[in-house]
Amino acid sequence: MNYLNKKTVEDIDVAGKRVLVRCDFNVPFAEDGSIADPKRINEALKTIRYLVDHKAKVILCSHLGRPKGEFNPKYSLAPVAAYLSQALGQEVKMAADVIGESAKSIAASLQDGEVELIENVRFHNEETKNDPAFAKELASMAEIYVNDAFGTAHRAHASTEGVSHYLPAVCGYLIQKEITVMGGALTDPKRPFVAILGGAKVSDKIGVINNLISKVDTLIIGGGMAYTFFKAMGYEIGTSICEEDKVDLAKQTMENAKKNGVQFLLPVDTKVGKEYAADTEAKVVDSDQLPADWMGLDIGPKSVEAFTQAIQGAGTVVWNGPMGVSEWENFAQGTIGVAKAVAESGAISIIGGGDSAAAVEKLGFADKMTHISTGGGASLEFLEGLELPGIACLNEK
Ligand code: 3PG
Repeated sequence: MNYLNKKTVEDIDVAGKRVLVRCDFNVPFAEDGSIADPKRINEALKTIRYLVDHKAKVILCSHLGRPKGEFNPKYSLAPVAAYLSQALGQEVKMAADVIGESAKSIAASLQDGEVELIENVRFHNEETKNDPAFAKELASMAEIYVNDAFGTAHRAHASTEGVSHYLPAVCGYLIQKEITVMGGALTDPKRPFVAILGGAKVSDKIGVINNLISKVDTLIIGGGMAYTFFKAMGYEIGTSICEEDKVDLAKQTMENAKKNGVQFLLPVDTKVGKEYAADTEAKVVDSDQLPADWMGLDIGPKSVEAFTQAIQGAGTVVWNGPMGVSEWENFAQGTIGVAKAVAESGAISIIGGGDSAAAVEKLGFADKMTHISTGGGASLEFLEGLELPGIACLNEK
């Protein structure tokens, strides 16, 4: 999907106008109620600052969690307003509702350069139903719509898609960056183009594999889904995770890779554990020698070496999904090794959101990557070549 021709905030005159900005402030919270990881908020600041500096009246909106259509203080965006006020160095006026008296009166009283944050759009069921009347109410507060919520761009909801039917609609800097970097890799990658896919399930990644197989030079498979491929190759996989109904698909994928001349790499060795536990007894075995009562929980050192070699010469690397149970120290070495290889490769490195982004950040490699997507589901769907309704709906240049 090529969205490079979408209008951005720079293609529209925002001065003195009420601008509704959809952000993805769906951030994790710590137990004490503080924001555990503000990355998504920080990534939205560039657009918000641009609008403030260009004298727009800024009305921010977002979802947070899945509050099921009713007000729930646990999902209030008030802590985000406090964080934003500090980050921007000016008050962000928090509304008590979404399309009610509070949101509308604050919106109406905004001066040029002032910022409001309305409450969680998912306090209304109409949001996820993409209800036109609700979208129209949201739109009625503004004269321009800016979508900068890349993480939610795969959802056709009222605040991500519906409002675009009632207002001039452009993207913000975050969406522009996500579609430029990831879109560029998909349409005109610097070669060799290496994709590394991990995570537990083939079913979660098959769409990405199918889309990338005609584009990449090398496809590396690790993580839990490797065992379904091993099964397809007739290996013993012990008690490792396996999707029996995807074994044929795995076989077909390997044939497709061959047909497309793609170098297809699976882990040559595996770190197995006695049971699914962080402190279980563990050992490394060759991947075709898995003992019947052990389970694969990480890739082994020989695999890290083989994958590193493939990654070293790459022009572009796209990585989505950990190589093992990376949240457990004993089974994180594969993911750490691959993160290190990608960080040191000198390639254009793109990390899909979700687990792999979290792993790269936790392991301290974040600033070595070209781009870490703020979208989990959205970046997967983008890599699958699927339409993202929240971007498709925006105006063309
Ligand atoms: C995400 O965290 O992936 C996005 O904010 C979308 O959230 P959702 O899966 O609840 O729609």
